[in-house]
Amino acid sequence: MIKEVNSEFEMRAFGEKLGRLLKGGEVLELIGDVGAGKTTLTKGIARGLDVDEDVQSPSFTISRVYSARGGLSLAHYDFYRLNDAGIMANELHETIHDPSSITIIEWAAVVEGILPPERIRIIITAPSSTARRLEITGPEELISQL
Ligand SMILES: Nc1ncnc2c1ncn2[C@@H]1O[C@H](COP(=O)(O)OP(=O)(O)OP(=O)(O)O)[C@@H](O)[C@H]1O
Ligand SMILES: [Mg+2]
Repeated sequence: MIKEVNSEFEMRAFGEKLGRLLKGGEVLELIGDVGAGKTTLTKGIARGLDVDEDVQSPSFTISRVYSARGGLSLAHYDFYRLNDAGIMANELHETIHDPSSITIIEWAAVVEGILPPERIRIIITAPSSTARRLEITGPEELISQL
């Protein structure tokens, strides 16, 4: 499906709606240039998962984990400029297969091989400084509720 948003606020609101639909075990791959809005969308998803903490870009730490509603956790990864995921690949592999974790990955190229085929993929492009176009693929039962 295609979703168009016209502001950062709308991007967060869409993320919140998506976050409310997640049940645990989902893997989301966010694709888009620097400044596309991947982390902004993640902040919205975190709100939909009732994460209390302030979600920050994991660029320097590569991963951050937040506690979410109903015993779930949100694991947020950013592999920007990494040529080798190293031991982070092992950590990612574990989170991906943990049914109580929701995994969101930015700049996933270096770990593409370990991502499950049934993941949710969101490609974000920016037609203007404030508009964003999201192309979302994933399980039909989820997509149909967005
Ligand atoms: N509609 C919009 N949706 C999301 N962000 C927007 C929108 N309009 C403007 N912005 C701005 O675009 C920037 C998006 O930054 P963000 O950190 O989310 O991007 P990113 O895709 O995670 O980049 P990076 O690859 O560097 O991690 C922010 O400065 C935000 O204010
Ligand atoms: Mg980011």
